[in-house]
Parts: sequence; structure tokens; C-alpha cells
Amino acid sequence: MTALAEIKSSIEELRRTIEQHERHYHVLDNPIIPDVEFDKLVRELLELEKKYPDLRTPESPTQRVGGKPMAQFDSVQHGVAMLSLDNAFSVDQLVRFDERIAARLDLSDAIDFSAEPKLDGMAISIRYVDGILVTAATRGDGRSGEDVTHNIKTIGAVPLHLQGDNLPAEIEIRGEVFMPRKGFEALNEAARKAGEKTFANPRNATAGSLRQLDPQIAAARPLTIFAYAVGKVEGYALPQQHSELLSLLAEWGFPVCPENAVVTGVQGCSEYFERIGERRDSMPYEIDGVVFKVNDLDKQEQLGFVSRAPRWAIAHKFPAQEQVTVVNAVDWQVGRTGAVTPVARLEPVEVGGVVVSNATLHNIDELERKDVRVGDTVSVRRAGDVIPEVVSVIKAKRGKNTRRVKLPKECPVCGSDVSRAEGEAVARCNGGLYCSAQRKEALNHFVSRRALDIEGLGSKLIDQLVEAEMLATPADIFDVDKVNESVLSDLERMGKKSALNVLAAIETSRDTTLARFLYSLGIREVGEATALSLADHFGGLAQLMACVDEITDQSLKSGELINEPLEAVSDVGPIVAEHIRAFFSEDHNRSVIAHLTGDGGLRIAMVETSQAAAIELPLATQSFVVTGTLKSMTRDQAKEKIRTLGGKVTSSVSKKTDLLVCGENPGSKLTKAEALGVTVMDESAFSVFLANSRV
Ligand code: IVH
Repeated sequence: MTALAEIKSSIEELRRTIEQHERHYHVLDNPIIPDVEFDKLVRELLELEKKYPDLRTPESPTQRVGGKPMAQFDSVQHGVAMLSLDNAFSVDQLVRFDERIAARLDLSDAIDFSAEPKLDGMAISIRYVDGILVTAATRGDGRSGEDVTHNIKTIGAVPLHLQGDNLPAEIEIRGEVFMPRKGFEALNEAARKAGEKTFANPRNATAGSLRQLDPQIAAARPLTIFAYAVGKVEGYALPQQHSELLSLLAEWGFPVCPENAVVTGVQGCSEYFERIGERRDSMPYEIDGVVFKVNDLDKQEQLGFVSRAPRWAIAHKFPAQEQVTVVNAVDWQVGRTGAVTPVARLEPVEVGGVVVSNATLHNIDELERKDVRVGDTVSVRRAGDVIPEVVSVIKAKRGKNTRRVKLPKECPVCGSDVSRAEGEAVARCNGGLYCSAQRKEALNHFVSRRALDIEGLGSKLIDQLVEAEMLATPADIFDVDKVNESVLSDLERMGKKSALNVLAAIETSRDTTLARFLYSLGIREVGEATALSLADHFGGLAQLMACVDEITDQSLKSGELINEPLEAVSDVGPIVAEHIRAFFSEDHNRSVIAHLTGDGGLRIAMVETSQAAAIELPLATQSFVVTGTLKSMTRDQAKEKIRTLGGKVTSSVSKKTDLLVCGENPGSKLTKAEALGVTVMDESAFSVFLANSRV
């Protein structure tokens, strides 16, 4: 081989490796190398292509983000029109759809349908010539759309060239580009922090990202795609069934929705609709219904279409996640960290099947940006387990008697000053634990399930105990002079039995782990994951506090505050380190902790710190996923047991998973585990396994 031929072949090899990793990351959801390693490979390829520009190809993975922004959107003619779908809003309408098909095709047997979630994003058609991505366009008017090739290429899940040898000469692959919930929330949270405009919903965020001339913007947005159809096809014989077509799209390297299934007849369709509907809120992306398509492609062709929708498909819609209502009032709520948050009190309205009468306005900046006034007609959104929010004001409906809302100067609960730190969107009550709202929230957090888990000590009880001045700090919970049988049984809705139950739960909670304890303290920005890292790093509370003292001593000597020893903990950056230091330097907090661990009788188990000790733990190096409903414990308890024994718990099944602990009604994790050949254990096997794994 000549030198140049050798370089060419190593460039090609590098591209194949990078593509394989892209596929593992974006399509299979199962990365096999760390991000830094991946970045290294891309840099290596970039260098080579810079040195040998003649060897650069448009489908090289380095070409995802093109150079300059486009001057304008060109128009792209679709090879086959992009249709829309008719909607059904009831089972009745579904029955009629099925009957129409049976009549037209003269069928008496139940019809097979490909059932798919209706993804709430943007429809895109991507044209491949000889397997290479050539153009990507929006739906537009159905005949031609806008050329968004530059943006679509930035989406890691979209293959720049199709996999396999037997490829069509030309094909339009159709699918939905969308933004998963997590990415959408993070994008809006970042916008909120930066005082920028937020997106109303993931669909708008997707459209807003694709309708950009500069591909850098789309490249920075967490977009992905599920393929669900094809348009024009040349030089290829498609399979007989739509479901087989979906598998083919997956083979070519496209992500396909894992919830797709083949169902039979209206019965099968409505069962699927129910099943997906139940899981709608917990799915990682938004869907607004399900789509049923006649599975047999010949039958599809026979049925054809009317105006702009096919006769062979229908969208069965879920209730909308956005509704219009009126703001009756705006109140201010004080949270655990003193954050004063505006909450809209609404004329009750059903959103996505749930009655909503309160919605967050996030912070004063956002309230002002959206210009929400009392009396306004607003659009309210509720999706997943996220708190309902006011999305926008319908200005056309604003009457004369609306009233503007102002940030209160004083805390509505304790009367302390409300202030806003420079550059922060959030206003805070300065009352600290003097403020009963903050005290109540701090206590609610302290006893919550993932913290000390004191069952029965709910927010109503805490409210009463705080009002009665029996409870001020978490340490009071363990003080028998303050919380005892006679005090508790005197409270509203408490009998002797419930009082004894609460006391028993308090007693049980005395034995806890360091991670739970650290989390329960409610230190700003210290969630469960950070609490675990801290516990793992320091091993004991005393060690962590000694570290803070050391920082204080050093700063007294040098006049400079250096939180480096805290930043050494994985997951802890400068801001979190400062919150941790500030918390443990506060005398009041120290005294509460001393009371808890002293007279309070709290016993915090020491942690053997990871690196050295984990190797000796029985489950070290093993990776677990827990799914389904367990009978003898909650999933969280199961996870904690695994972690105590040194095992790692992750949220999704991948090739790296060693064991899937599987309760009842497991869902897609079980299917995935079986497909990957991961060992699956039911609850009784898991109990035996735990018993055998004790140190
Ligand atoms: S099939 C004729 N499948 O719904 C085939 N569409 O109202 C039409 N959509 O523009 C598309 N999920 O944006 C199909 N699994 C799915 C879909 C889906 C979402 C969207 C798509 C289309 C709109 C039709």
C-alpha cells in the first residue's frame, strides 16, 4: 500500500470505530467507552482530516456540525407526500375506523395493526442516496418542506450513512425528532437561571431548535429521533409488514420506539391504548396518543388515502396536557431554603386527566417576563411528574380588571426581609429557621422517605407541632420532652394508636446510614447522589466535619477560603463545596447535629470508604437494575441493600448489567434484559441471594 492509501484506510477504520460508538451511545443507549475516550477518537480523526483535506467526506462523523450558518432555508420537494393522520378521541371512533377498513377490504377476520406511541415532536423526512444522508426536510405543506439537513446532521442518533450492504439506491426515511423530558427540563432550567425565555413544551423546543440557520444551536440541544415510516423507495423490495419495516429501519441504524407492538383488532388496539396511557407520565419523552397502522403493507396500498390522511392509519389521542383557565390569585410560597416562589391559584381545570388548581410561576423574573396578572386567562401545562406550570398568558383575553403582582418585601410567613442576591433569579426570605415555613419544610424533608424515613410523621402533624412550638429543629423529634405519647395523642386526628406508631417509627429511624443522614440535613444542592459521594469519600460524619474545620483553620491563617478538600469528592464542584462548608460552619447547625447524635440517640453507621474497601464487599463490581413491584420491600429498599453490600445500581439495563431484580409487572426492562442475556432474578431468588451475600 502507498503511504496515502494507508492513511486513507486508517481514517476509514477510525470512522467506523467512531460510528460504532455513536450507535452504542445514541441508538442502543449503551455506551461502551467513556466520553473522554470518544472525544479523543473524534479529535484524532479531525486532525487527520485537517492534514489530508482531500480525504474528508460529507458522511464523516466530524461533519455533523457544519461550518457556517445557512443564509436561508431552501425548499425540498418530498419524493412521496408526507401525510398527516386522522384522529380518534374515543373507542367508538376506533371501532368505526376498523369497520371502514374491514368493509373496504372485504375482511371478516380481525385486522393486525402496528401500534406505536404518537411522539410529540416534529416530523422529518431524511433522504439517503446509496446509503448516504443527502437531505433532511420538515413536513412543510406535505409536498415540500424546509431544508434542515444542517441541523438534522447534528443529531447523534441520526446515521450519516445507513448500516449494512444491501441498501436501497434511494430512500426517504421518516420519523419524529423530539426532545426527551430530562433534556427539556434541563434546557429550561438553564434558561431560567440565565434569565432567558423558556420553551413552552418539548415540541416547541424541538421545532425551535430545527428552525435555526446556525447548526451550532441544534448541536447543543438534546434532540433525538425515532423512525416510523418510509417515503420514496428506489431499488429495494420492502418487507410485507410495517412491523418488519420498523425492524429494517433499526438494522440500518435508526432508533425505533421500543414500545412499538403488533396488536389485533379493536380489542388489541384499546388494550394497547390503555397500557401506554397508564405509563404516559413515566415515559422519558412526551407522547400525545398512540398511532395504529394496518400492519400489512399491501393492504395499506389498497386502502390508499383521502385528502391528506391515509385510510390505513389513525391517531388515538390522549387528553391534552395543556389547558386554558383563569388566575384567581398569586400567592407566595416559602420553601426549605427560603426561596420565595410565586404560585398561581387557578380556577380548577382538568389537565391530562388530573384536576389542577395550583401552578408554579417559578420565580419573580419569569412571572414578569410572562407578565402574568391576577385575573388573566392563561395556558397551564402538566406533564409527567413535573409540577403544573403557567406557560403563557392569552393576552387577547386580558380584561380591564387584571392586577399586576409584585414581589413582597417581607416574608408572607414570618415577616423577615425578602432579598435577592446579585444575579440570582430566586428571591429568599432571610428568616432562616426563624421562619416557620422554612422550619416546616426542613422538617418535612428530614423525615421524608429518602431521608430518615419516619413514617407517620407527615406534613399535617409537622404543621401542628411547629405551630404548637413543640418542634423547631430535627433534634426535637428525638426529644421525649417535646414529642411523646401525650403530646401526639392530643393533636388533631391522632389517636393513641397512631401516636404509638409514630413513636415506633421515630425509634426505628434512629439507626441510619451516613448518606441518608447527610441528605436529610437539607444542605443546598446536596441531593441523594452527592450525599452518597460524601459518605463514600469521608466514611464518617466526624471526618467530614473535621475537613470543614481544617478549611476554616487554613482560611484563618491564609485569609483565603479554599474548599479544595471538599471539591476532591466526586460530584462536588465549587458551588456545592461552598454550600457544604457554610452549612457545617454554622453554629446552629452544629448544635442540632450534636443534639441528634448525642441525647437524640441517632446512630449513623460508618461507611467503609469505597476505593479500598469496596473490593472486599460481596457485591463489589456487580451492576444491578431493579424493576417491577416487590412484595417484601420497596424498590428503594432493595437498591439500598444492594448498595450496602457494595453493588452498583443503575436505572437502565445495558450489556454491563450483571443482574436484573424483577418484581411483578416489570415492563420493558425485563424484555431488554432478556434480549441482552442478563441474568434475571425474581423476588424470592433475590432474598436468598441477599442472605447468601452477607458479610
Ligand atoms: S406515521 C401516514 N407514526 O403525527 C403516516 N406519525 O398527525 C403519518 N407522529 O406528522 C406519520 N408519532 O409528526 C406516524 N409513530 C408515529 C408518529 C407519527 C408521531 C406524528 C407525525 C405526523 C403526525 C400526524
